[in-house]
Amino acid sequence: MEITIRLETQEDYRAVEEMTRDAFWNLYVPGCDEHYLCHIIRDHPDFVPELDFVAELDGVIVGSIMYTKAWLIGEDQERVEILAFGPLCVRPGYQRRGIGTALIEKTRTLAREMNIPAIVIYGDPHNYCKHGFKNGIDYRVSDMNGEHPAGLLVLELESGFFGRKNWKALQSDVFMFDQSAAAGFDSTFPPKEKKYQYSQELFSIACRSFLR
Ligand SMILES: CC(C)(COP(=O)(O)OP(=O)(O)OC[C@H]1O[C@@H](n2cnc3c(N)ncnc32)[C@H](O)[C@@H]1OP(=O)(O)O)[C@@H](O)C(=O)NCCC(=O)NCCS
Repeated sequence: MEITIRLETQEDYRAVEEMTRDAFWNLYVPGCDEHYLCHIIRDHPDFVPELDFVAELDGVIVGSIMYTKAWLIGEDQERVEILAFGPLCVRPGYQRRGIGTALIEKTRTLAREMNIPAIVIYGDPHNYCKHGFKNGIDYRVSDMNGEHPAGLLVLELESGFFGRKNWKALQSDVFMFDQSAAAGFDSTFPPKEKKYQYSQELFSIACRSFLR
């Protein structure tokens, strides 16, 4: 299996959005909004185009990762620019073959070369701890409310960066999108049934879980 990891081009946009919709549909909530997020991220000032990668296999896009700027706010008000990624997805039918890992490893290396000290995301620890992410509490990184959600995950890129003070992680406001605009965008895709599946319950529990 010869996977190519390359930068996304404008010609890929719709294919990436369709794949993202298929990958996230009904996974965390009935339906999904992640394809809309892909759509708006690319025009947002916090988008990081040099880390906007797709995975391609035999001319078909089988994976995508997008990054935005994020920030750490120190207890002393120091503000440090870092990175967040998401949406990250692999086309259903191509998952569990190492494509997600390849996208993370490629972009993690580039982020390190850009002298970014850390990547902070909200995600499922199962997907990311194997790539070196730890819960924020282990690096004294909280959300903006000073809490430690189970899904707030930190990858230290600059060794020794964390541990000397408390930080709050601030995400791009691109994630605060208008739900009705997302629904309007979704209506431009073929209809798809929104339904319950148990993974939504796991997500709901994870969203209400905090470390102390
Ligand atoms: C999460 C996601 C991006 C991971 O991508 P992926 O390509 O499936 O990831 P990988 O193949 O690198 O790793 C997944 C698993 O497959 C295993 N794997 C990798 N290559 C393998 C191979 N050749 N044969 C068997 N298993 C393999 C990995 O060890 C890993 O196992 P684990 O879950 O037990 O740790 C993908 O599953 C996805 O798109 N999910 C839906 C959207 C989503 O949830 N995105 C993340 C939001 S937090």
